[in-house]
Amino acid sequence: MKQQRLLFVCLGNICRSPAAEEIMRQIILKTPQLRDLFEVDSAGIGPWHEGQLPDSRMRYHGKLHGYDFHHIARQIKANDFDRFDLVFGMDSGNMSDLKGLVRDDRALSKIRCLADYMTQHPDYKVIPDPYYGDDEDFELAIALIEDACAGLANALKLQMK
Ligand code: 4NP
Repeated sequence: MKQQRLLFVCLGNICRSPAAEEIMRQIILKTPQLRDLFEVDSAGIGPWHEGQLPDSRMRYHGKLHGYDFHHIARQIKANDFDRFDLVFGMDSGNMSDLKGLVRDDRALSKIRCLADYMTQHPDYKVIPDPYYGDDEDFELAIALIEDACAGLANALKLQMK
């Protein structure tokens, strides 16, 4: 079966999307039906943090949960919509920015909101940006991303049947 590529996108590519990339990678590695069939990456809407490791607060909170977030930030490019099969935004700003970047309906059809896959946090419709927040906001972002990635893994398993 052809490998599928998943791209996680947030505003700066230093907090939420590098976390989503690594959390999803770990789930895929631990899930026999998905292992070797999915590749993951992340990118930012903006260029501000290109070349940087994830925010030190996100790395710190990731470590508390057993993750090593180490993606090097990059800005999304138009051809990412050709290279990737699905592109996931984190909040409504990301969703409208992503929709503004696509050039055709094929690319548009690849865009998803990661929060739509959450099952354990009915009060949240997006994954809020923790950048201007505190420890609790980083912990919340990780919890929401873990929930969403688990839901996404289940959806991908169903799609493989
Ligand atoms: P992220 O968080 O989109 O989850 O990576 C942000 C990182 C940087 C900025 C905003 C959000 N910024 O304004 O530089």
